[in-house]
Amino acid sequence: MSENETLKRIRDDITNYLSGKRLSHTLSVMEEAEKLGTLYGLSENDIARLRLAGLLHDITKEKSPDQQLELCRRFGYKYTEDDVNSPKVFHSITGAYLAREKYKEAVDDTVFNAIRYHTTGRPAMTIYEKLIYLADYIEPTRTFDDCIRLRKLFYRANEYTKAHLDNILLISYDMTLSSLISEGQYIHPATTAARNYLIVSEKINQS
Ligand SMILES: [Fe+2]
Ligand SMILES: [Fe+2]
Repeated sequence: MSENETLKRIRDDITNYLSGKRLSHTLSVMEEAEKLGTLYGLSENDIARLRLAGLLHDITKEKSPDQQLELCRRFGYKYTEDDVNSPKVFHSITGAYLAREKYKEAVDDTVFNAIRYHTTGRPAMTIYEKLIYLADYIEPTRTFDDCIRLRKLFYRANEYTKAHLDNILLISYDMTLSSLISEGQYIHPATTAARNYLIVSEKINQS
């Protein structure tokens, strides 16, 4: 089966997992990921992987909390207390495992990890992980103020460099952390680790 046929088959299948707004969001992430991959000069093959990760990133988003835990057990993933305290993170973990189980031939480690870390980020992200994380944040159906602001900041660049991408990611982590704090929610340490990594290892700062 060719790459395009696989993507088409998965695109048809995804309607069994997601509906309404979540389905439109998913298709929009897939398109946005392609756009970002093109801006960053990725090869056709790599852009196909980005499209695939975009298409699959929220595959388990409509599963209940019990189903999420059941999927973790099935895949042998030992969830941590941090995961339990940040329940939104579960769909990125179970999504990565389910996507790999269902589409073994297409979901390599690159695609797996782009799905796996799309909610929290992590230190030393690959370009695929960064672009899926960003596509999820700024795809055009997102209407939150922070999403609109980040989209504008990203697209006003004259040049799409690694430093620009890292700076945008840093801003997105700050936005996420601020909103978690203002809502009194738990902060998953992967997000603070991802933010700190950019500041120390990539020497990015916003001042
Ligand atoms: Fe998600
Ligand atoms: Fe998403």
